Amino acid sequence: MTRGARGAAPLLMYRDHRFTDEVARATQPVWERLHGLLTDVDWLLKAPIIHRIIQLKQETRTLILAHNSQLPEIAYGVADKVRDSRQLAQYAAALDKDDAPVIVMCGVHFMAEPVKVLAPERTVLIPDVAASWSLAESITGADMRLLKQHYPAAPVVSYVNTSAEVKAESDYCCTSSNAVRVVEAAAKEFGSPRVLFEPDRNLAANVAKETSIEIIAWHVTCMVHDRFTPELICELRAHVPGVRVLAHPECPPEVCAEADFTGSTSGMIRDVQTSGAAKMVMVTECSMADNVAAENPGVDFVRPCVLCPHMQRITLPKILTALETLSPQVEVDENIVHAARRAVERMLAISPPRSRHHHAITPARSSRLREA
Ligand code: 13P
Repeated sequence: MTRGARGAAPLLMYRDHRFTDEVARATQPVWERLHGLLTDVDWLLKAPIIHRIIQLKQETRTLILAHNSQLPEIAYGVADKVRDSRQLAQYAAALDKDDAPVIVMCGVHFMAEPVKVLAPERTVLIPDVAASWSLAESITGADMRLLKQHYPAAPVVSYVNTSAEVKAESDYCCTSSNAVRVVEAAAKEFGSPRVLFEPDRNLAANVAKETSIEIIAWHVTCMVHDRFTPELICELRAHVPGVRVLAHPECPPEVCAEADFTGSTSGMIRDVQTSGAAKMVMVTECSMADNVAAENPGVDFVRPCVLCPHMQRITLPKILTALETLSPQVEVDENIVHAARRAVERMLAISPPRSRHHHAITPARSSRLREA
């Protein structure tokens, strides 16, 4: 899309970043992937920022990590790695000490903190510190200490969507990709029939269906995934015969029970690539579905859109400012780093199952779920 682009540049410009021939040439491969997801006008504004971010990234040896739910222009335009939340932490943990002195985390704050915890010597930037999460804000270190007083013998498993302070009060951290395995490992290590699992009640309920361990859950849900209903799935199936439904385990258990597959953001991507379905719906944040649709042009995606306001806080201009100013930096209190790292490293040590073509979370077994 170079036609007439430069003529329009003086008006359509972010700060002094113009759409020049050089920008058009350098960003052409990105445009080829984003074509259809952005309008031509969007591209005139965004291509020069993408170009400048890529230049600065090289000058400062910065690594840009992005969650699967980031906007397509971030995922395809500037990110070095686009992954699920566990894989992002894993990638950061495996970096060589001389690689990437600066890391920009395009995601929410709870995804950036584990990177700082695992690599405290690096400068870790988050383009908008207000990119938080309804789950992470729902529970504090003080809540955790109270819970532990009530259930002193039960190990504590915290979902990755929590603050570093909460992780530091936990025995294990987990993501949706390995939650069942982590719960079982924690119960075994502590010789306990029950596990405290915080804070997502839906994920806790979905995990409880997969294990005989009693799950003591907190009582909040994700503001994005909790909005989906089983009625919506039934309606989609009625309107799009043969559609394959993929759900994230932060969805209510009744929604997961209606889905053909339930798994982490990466699990869903794998299912799109391997199940061979021609029509699909991803019951999760809609930027994630946009990214997957761009990668799989042969699949017809139905997109019931629920945007995550926190994920959407990360934008190209904010990434550019972060690189120019080396701020805002993610800081984790020294007293918290050590304990939080132990929980995060345990999460990394337990790999997800290789699930294919079936429910990662099955609607089987009678579940043992109790609210704290
Ligand atoms: P994943 O761990 O599946 O990437 O999900 C993280 C998340 O926060 C989804 O809401």
